[in-house]
Amino acid sequence: MQSIQTELKKLNENLQKMIATENPILYSAAEQLFNARGKRIRPAIILLISKLISANNTISIEQKRLAEIAEIIHTASLVHDDVIDNCDTRRGIRSVHTVFNNKIAVLAGDFLFAQSSWYLANLNNPNVVKTISKIITDFAEGEVQQGIRSFNYQASVEEYIEKSFYKTASLLACSCKATAILNKSHIKVQNDFYMYGKHIGLGFQIIDDILDITSKSANLGKPAASDLKNGNFTAPLILALNKKSKLEKMINQEFQFNQTLNEAINIIKKTNSIQKAKDMAEENIQLAIQILKKKYSNKNNKELLLNTYYLLNRVY
Ligand code: IPE
Ligand code: IPE
Ligand code: MG
Ligand code: MG
Repeated sequence: MQSIQTELKKLNENLQKMIATENPILYSAAEQLFNARGKRIRPAIILLISKLISANNTISIEQKRLAEIAEIIHTASLVHDDVIDNCDTRRGIRSVHTVFNNKIAVLAGDFLFAQSSWYLANLNNPNVVKTISKIITDFAEGEVQQGIRSFNYQASVEEYIEKSFYKTASLLACSCKATAILNKSHIKVQNDFYMYGKHIGLGFQIIDDILDITSKSANLGKPAASDLKNGNFTAPLILALNKKSKLEKMINQEFQFNQTLNEAINIIKKTNSIQKAKDMAEENIQLAIQILKKKYSNKNNKELLLNTYYLLNRVY
């Protein structure tokens, strides 16, 4: 991400300013995650797309602001998600509701959503407002879909993809599209980047769900096996369930003992469901890459391509 180092540094400075509030508790709760080790994937993608589609390889002030808004929305969703998933760490530090409490965390998340809306409105572009505000509705839809189906082993791959779109891919799809709207790009370009964002979003969530089973909390900066514990149906679990009735039994018992949780992880690892989930993620990432290669290779698309491959390689 060499070409956008300066922009990312500035983004971090601006994020601190954008969440300023006079209430010290709210401020402290809202700002702590911005200093921790977030990967800034969403802003990086927005900044790289901006460069790719601009006439002279530049990023407009509005597009930089959009990158900041997307990171604030993402962070707000993490604060709420950790309350929902009962996760006590995030980005390598204690999660907001663990440091404070659930009430403060819900309010801090609300505050961040509200701040993002304020800056969104100030872009003075109704089409961008419509596109981006949908993300917050979709996030709620995705989390509710996940919640009502927890510990339901009959969940299908289609339902999983739909939930993942709402929860995660909508943010990437809509913000990539808004980047093109701000560039005054043709509707076809807007749609290309919507599809690009949708596919990387789905691929990214599938990979996050694989890492939940195959990685360690220390690497993730958040608790491993948290999806299993919460009964969240994810790709590796659904694909393993087709084969293992013992897993069904464990889900029925809601993974009551830690031993059962480890056993479930081992059962999943022994099936080929992790590989199948990787294939599913790769399929999505490839679809995104094809858009860049087929339609945007007349420009310097190298860095965006590298970034897109990185999303997949996190798991290898
Ligand atoms: C975590 O996103 C939430 C998902 C959508 C899977 P990231 O892995 O991008 O989290 P940060 O921003 O780097 O902490
Ligand atoms: C991502 O789902 C939810 C958000 C969009 C915040 P996860 O529940 O898998 O995210 P992590 O694993 O907690 O980061
Ligand atoms: Mg979570
Ligand atoms: Mg996860």
